[in-house]
Amino acid sequence: MSDASALEPDTGLTPGKGTSHGLPVAVLLEVTHRCPLQCPYCSNPVELDRPKSELSTEEWVRVLHEMPDLGILQVHFSGGEPMARKDIVELVQAATDAGLYSNLITSGVTLTRERLEALADAGLSHVQISFQANDPVLANRVGGYKNGHAKKLEAAKWTREAGLPLTVNAVMHRQNLHELPDMIDMAVEMGAHRIEVANVQYYGWALKNRAALMPTMAQIEECNRVVEEAEERLKGILAIDYVVPDYYAVRPKTCMGGWGRQFFNISPAGRVLPCHAAESITGLEFDSVRDHALGWIWDHSPALNLYRGTDWMPEPCQSCDFKEEDFGGCRCQAFALTGDAANTDPACSFSPHHDAIFKTAETEAETGETRFIYRNLAGGTPEA
Ligand code: FES
Repeated sequence: MSDASALEPDTGLTPGKGTSHGLPVAVLLEVTHRCPLQCPYCSNPVELDRPKSELSTEEWVRVLHEMPDLGILQVHFSGGEPMARKDIVELVQAATDAGLYSNLITSGVTLTRERLEALADAGLSHVQISFQANDPVLANRVGGYKNGHAKKLEAAKWTREAGLPLTVNAVMHRQNLHELPDMIDMAVEMGAHRIEVANVQYYGWALKNRAALMPTMAQIEECNRVVEEAEERLKGILAIDYVVPDYYAVRPKTCMGGWGRQFFNISPAGRVLPCHAAESITGLEFDSVRDHALGWIWDHSPALNLYRGTDWMPEPCQSCDFKEEDFGGCRCQAFALTGDAANTDPACSFSPHHDAIFKTAETEAETGETRFIYRNLAGGTPEA
């Protein structure tokens, strides 16, 4: 049982404007920022949590047991690389004991058949493996990890042999979009149930690498065509989730279904975030499961309440007919591109910054920059 009552609030913290939120249905657990790969578009913050700050096994188990009371049904074990945690099997078992479905989001490169079987025995429901390309040379270069692609293929095979459903996560950008048809075929061949075709979103590490990653408009048009054709051809065989690139969009994405509305993320050190990139917004303080019960944080965290609902919105969002649909887009992108997280996401054509980001995309896509800055604890290393 959880000892959440020991963590009830003692503070005079006041929730911000707008408390419109429901039950969180799924949660991303970034159990560590350690990772053998160095992808230049990593969704972790540029300031990575150090291993010594990570929640202990006991802390994670306690938090997992608090989740069913909030209505949570599903947890995603992510990182960094979740297999870097020696206690990952114990954590999956704790999720199962708490009645939660669990998904392992992994690079696959350190997965062994034995550990995968132990995870399956502990009740793991699903595995998601990232692939950087179909061509091994390109894939290993993007991930900054020698022979990683071959290890991933092996991990995918073991996943299917263990009877676990598999999703392929394909992060797409200018340097690998030409491989998309092959990556879709690869997913079918390995018996994946789903592929996530996710164009890079530009915060944190990806923002640092934007000139090397930004696709051209022609590539995006071709990508749309390939996805549309594959969706039709592979109905009932492979489900395709498609994330379009923001900079070429007309409408902004409903990021995370709205800030603090139905999803949260727990960082390795225990901070509860509305999304993986939220710590890139300077000046916000996120509450930790080390200081408060999860239920209190979900309802009362000032940072989660800050952009909930629609009351906080300035114009043009406030009088927009779509405000209950897209909630003004992505707060992290608004901050990264305009310096104010409360601004309309520039991906929206109603934003006064929209034309400028479209031009940025076109200009950067034409630069011909190919060198990556690899993600690491030192703040990034330029490709040799
Ligand atoms: Fe943070 Fe969109 S990634 S709100």
